[in-house]
Amino acid sequence: MWGGRFAEGPAAVMAEINASIPFDKRLWRQDVRGSIAHAEMLGKTGIVGQSDADAIIAGLKQIETEYEAEGVPVNLALEDIHMTIEARLTEIIGPVAGRLHTARSRNDQVATAFRLWTRDAVNEVMGALSNLREALIVRAEEQSDTILPGFTHLQVAQPVTLGHHLLAYYEMFTRDASRLRMCNQRNSECPLGSAALAGTGFANDRDMTAKALGFERPTANSMDSVSDRDFALDYLMAASQIALHLSRLAEEIIIWASQPFGFVALSDAWSTGSSIMPQKRNPDAAELVRGHAGRITGCLNALMMTMKGLPLAYSKDMQNDKPPVFEAHDLLGLCLTAMTGMVESMTFAPEKMRTAADSGFSTATDLADWLVRQGGIPFREAHHITGAAVKLCEERGCGLADLSIEDLVAIDGRIAGHDLPDLTVEGSVASRTSYGGTAPEQVRYQIMMLKQTNRL
Ligand code: ARG
Repeated sequence: MWGGRFAEGPAAVMAEINASIPFDKRLWRQDVRGSIAHAEMLGKTGIVGQSDADAIIAGLKQIETEYEAEGVPVNLALEDIHMTIEARLTEIIGPVAGRLHTARSRNDQVATAFRLWTRDAVNEVMGALSNLREALIVRAEEQSDTILPGFTHLQVAQPVTLGHHLLAYYEMFTRDASRLRMCNQRNSECPLGSAALAGTGFANDRDMTAKALGFERPTANSMDSVSDRDFALDYLMAASQIALHLSRLAEEIIIWASQPFGFVALSDAWSTGSSIMPQKRNPDAAELVRGHAGRITGCLNALMMTMKGLPLAYSKDMQNDKPPVFEAHDLLGLCLTAMTGMVESMTFAPEKMRTAADSGFSTATDLADWLVRQGGIPFREAHHITGAAVKLCEERGCGLADLSIEDLVAIDGRIAGHDLPDLTVEGSVASRTSYGGTAPEQVRYQIMMLKQTNRL
């Protein structure tokens, strides 16, 4: 393709280091799409005769059918998917194939194909993410009354409802969905027709190709067009953030599934056994979701490091843009599917959760709040009084709900004449009706609202 000024062919290792076909063959659909749009434009504008343009388009469609049936042939000498397709086109339609590369270069061609691929990838992830969000809502609704300990510092803090806990993840994944939408909003300009870096002297119609490929408009600066990989970085950043959220949920599942907790049992479909310990049931899928998050953020780092020192415009380093994006995309797809499967099928253990929620005087804040409301006591003092009540419970080996009003009056006389608050975990969660709070009533309200506004 570029042999005109070369006397010898490349060294064997040169072909190997230079080639991207082993991985960029994955762009074949997008490359054919881009080339068809380009050929149509060349014909319409008269840059290429209409009959030649038609022959090129027919040849490209034949290649599409071939690759669909047989896959893409890998020949390192043809370097990348763009040259592979052009070589095959030449075999099919002869030298007229050479007119396709008028008014473009591989630099705008690859940028276009990769942008198209990334847009499709983002849409795919959006679908997988909404399946997971849907699964979280279903489980949250079913578990809106289930009580478990809420933790800070992984120490029992206050009782919360499981529905509320699951909806916290729903919120994270909703923000992720909006980040994905922003990826595609920004990836809405088409670089095709920018040519090598400086634009072209041919009277091309860039609006036409942009529209044909589903972009909103052509990119405004040809140098930026061929050297910009922000769309790929945007996707990797969004993917990393999703992976991070998935990893946190995976970590909770791993903790909850361990015997000392026993809050949850993963279904057989999402567990593995041990080859030596017959009793074991391991949360491998959750561990791998947690592990893959490291690899996905590694992919983001790989592309950032590739781009950070590059002058304008295209440099061959940029060919390394695809492996990390493909890797992250594949891992993310696996993680989202596995997590959705785990969420849909795990079995909760409400009694274990309730018992744990009852430990550690988890309703102490409720007592302090009650002292403020009923006794008019400043919160700092209420905190102190409650501390004394907890100490009394420890001495007696009982819970806060077991104390009588006399016990409390003995600690602080200002409480006399009031009825005791409900210091059970049920009473505690039921009282937390503030907007976004953990009360079952509030959880059901949140679910109703997000179903109504169709926030999936
Ligand atoms: N295989 C190359 C890539 O993926 C295509 C662009 C080649 N451009 C060039 N000027 N050598 O980046």
